[in-house]
Amino acid sequence: MKTEPAVLSPEETAFLIRQRVARLATADGEGKPHAIPVCFAYTPGAVYIALDEKPKDVPPTKLKRIRNILENPSVALIADRYAEDWSLLAYVMVRGRAELVEPDADEHAIAVRLLRGKYHQYERMRIEENPVIAIRPERAASWGALDEPDAQPSILDAVRGRRSVRRYLDRDVPADLVDRVLEAARWAPSPHGRQPWRFAVVTEDATKERLADAMGEEWRANLQMDGQDAEVVERRLEGSRRRLLDAPVLILLCLYLEDLDAYPDETRQESETTMAVQSLGAAAQNVLLAAYELGLDAGWMCAPLFVPRKVSEVLGLDPKLVPHALLTLGYAEGDPPQRRSRKPLDELVVFRDG
Ligand SMILES: Cc1cc2nc3c(=O)[nH]c(=O)nc-3n(C[C@H](O)[C@H](O)[C@H](O)COP(=O)(O)O)c2cc1C
Repeated sequence: MKTEPAVLSPEETAFLIRQRVARLATADGEGKPHAIPVCFAYTPGAVYIALDEKPKDVPPTKLKRIRNILENPSVALIADRYAEDWSLLAYVMVRGRAELVEPDADEHAIAVRLLRGKYHQYERMRIEENPVIAIRPERAASWGALDEPDAQPSILDAVRGRRSVRRYLDRDVPADLVDRVLEAARWAPSPHGRQPWRFAVVTEDATKERLADAMGEEWRANLQMDGQDAEVVERRLEGSRRRLLDAPVLILLCLYLEDLDAYPDETRQESETTMAVQSLGAAAQNVLLAAYELGLDAGWMCAPLFVPRKVSEVLGLDPKLVPHALLTLGYAEGDPPQRRSRKPLDELVVFRDG
């Protein structure tokens, strides 16, 4: 796959994709400027902006920004942070050429997915019927405290804004941020408050490779057992390996059952274990939300669940720890393309009395 040369630095990328709104500046053929606030999604090589007006009200080509782009494709997009504490001010400006991507183009579907992944509001809007503006970045400029985390999102915003990230920038995660993420995990609810989980943190390439090798072997055997085509098997394995190696930090969540209550009957013992697994899920969600609040991104890989012993061996862990989930941590290289939409609440709430 051809990789575009990066116009934005990792710091600029990380700042840009965290912003929910930017300003798009266009100019007509005579250079008369026009600027509007826009929602946008970013992937390396393109910034996408939806046209959400209903075609009946205003045909998209009548919109001033579109007329300008058609007359003069040079545009600038600026995303900024304002704070009364001026040490936190920052902006990123992207200059480039804009074009319209029509609904029948493959790229249109990609853009719509990215935009809907970032803004749940678009799920209910027929943005797929209109062209999408694509800005091809040519130059970027920035200023200020790009690296400072943004003002804290509300918990509900973080719950909705967090998303699984599977491709990261080549940018280290400061160790103190990893500690703050783990600190959030520590506060997860747990049965009897016994905290039946332990964490392993991996940042060294050599360890990631050994983990990838150990988990890859088992996965290859499973995929082959499922009768998957050899080429597909290799492609999926390579993708998974790349995910492990490219993520700056891996956090392994292990189940630790030793401190839990012991029961004489199997049923209660099983429930005790289930509660521990539920609690591990809560710790994982704390990691994901804390990472999001700190300006990081995270992803979830279930692979260790299938080869817990091998993972333990690679890391030299106590055999009493059962590796369950691997959380990747880093800075997203762009808005993730595969964000899944959610079922409506009506479908999920199966009983409500009164
Ligand atoms: C228990 C669990 C296991 C998961 N395992 C994987 C995995 O192995 N690989 C992966 O890419 N995503 C995995 N995910 C992430 C889900 O695919 C993701 O959360 C879901 O598609 C919703 O997308 P979002 O997190 O971006 O909202 C897992 C999530 C959970 C809760």
